[in-house]
Amino acid sequence: MQFIVQPGGHLQGRVRVPGDKSISHRSIMLGSLADGTTHVSGFLQGEDCLCTLKAFRSMGVDIEGPSANGEVTIHGVGLHGLRAPSTDLDMGNSGTSMRLMSGLMSGQAFDVRMTGDASLSKRPMKRVTVPLASMGAVIEATSAGTPPLLVRGGKALQGIDYAMPMASAQVKSSLLLAGLYAAGETSVTEPAPTRDHTERMLRGFGYEVVTEGNRIRLQGGGRLTATTIDVPSDISSAAFFMVGASIAEGSDLIIEHVGINPTRTGVIDILRLMGANLEVLNEREVGGEPVADIRVRSAALQGIQIPEHLVPLAIDEFPALFIAAAFAQGQTVLTGAEELRVKESDRIQVMADGLIACGVDAQPTPDGIVINPGNFSGGTIESHGDHRIAMSFAMAALRATQPIIINDCANVNTSFPGFVELAATAGVNIRTVG
Ligand code: S3P
Repeated sequence: MQFIVQPGGHLQGRVRVPGDKSISHRSIMLGSLADGTTHVSGFLQGEDCLCTLKAFRSMGVDIEGPSANGEVTIHGVGLHGLRAPSTDLDMGNSGTSMRLMSGLMSGQAFDVRMTGDASLSKRPMKRVTVPLASMGAVIEATSAGTPPLLVRGGKALQGIDYAMPMASAQVKSSLLLAGLYAAGETSVTEPAPTRDHTERMLRGFGYEVVTEGNRIRLQGGGRLTATTIDVPSDISSAAFFMVGASIAEGSDLIIEHVGINPTRTGVIDILRLMGANLEVLNEREVGGEPVADIRVRSAALQGIQIPEHLVPLAIDEFPALFIAAAFAQGQTVLTGAEELRVKESDRIQVMADGLIACGVDAQPTPDGIVINPGNFSGGTIESHGDHRIAMSFAMAALRATQPIIINDCANVNTSFPGFVELAATAGVNIRTVG
């Protein structure tokens, strides 16, 4: 599927983007393993989260929904109530599903084989399989350490004290979830703060998790008690609209009910450092997560050196931020972001190639990029099946002088079903082909 986006326009009105992907995955996992019935609202009906949902259904969990408006009812089976699935678990494009499930499946009594699409099959899994093995898990991968993964069941897990070499919420979460099944204490120390939805949600299910500075720990052998989860809109999906409204002259847009967990708001901080006009309105707390409406008006952006401490707090938003940089005044430099090379695509190279195709001077570096804004014309972009690359270039068309054609866009449905319709309603001149 292609996006064809005509140049020009601005963003206006009120939009509500779909539910948070990270929180939606975790709601299915913890709801399934809880005692009792969990009600979820605002669930993201993107393909990634539906992979997680189907996986638990195939392990015997009765899950109703999702209804059209994102209501899901999960009849939890308890931490030891899953049954062996009759087939492989297909994780699609979803690194979160594969990595978090590696931890959870390590604690089960049965074997599970997990597969993924072409992109997921290239992504590194040793970051979870190595520490999980030191807990006693047995996981077979390809010789490159990539999926498919065969997780052997019936292993006795032992808690570990693990210093993570990279700032990864997926690794942290995988180990904490394995820790539910391990003897003694499991603790993870992170080199920089990463999204803490697992910790927050475990506490919401009544499980004690202690956070002391950058160290998070829990004791195995407890239980989860069903709860109610209201999933806020995903700030990672809101980011495309924040950037679009910032770069397109005459924009004034309100993005409603956005999750503003402080481990996710790097995009707001970075855009503000660039001079964006963002207002965070009606701050409130919904089910243990902070939420707000975000008003964005167009502004003249400046290029900046992006502070490295903000990198993990905006890790999924860099494709959109590179578009902001391409329309700023002056150079933007990103360093300390080598993790971008192992996302759904190599986001440093793929974004640099796309920017260059549009006439922008973009130089990839091993751990970041240097962007010298210039004449952004338009062109044909290869998204390499990466949803966030596709949506970022769709927003760039608002300020481009020529049409932008984006190839391989079907995976936008992994995180943002309805993107084209919502972007068009807000003011992007976009249509799909194929
Ligand atoms: C996620 C964590 C991040 C992020 C991904 C979702 C999560 O990955 O990029 O989209 O839900 O825990 P890493 O933890 O690998 O950085």
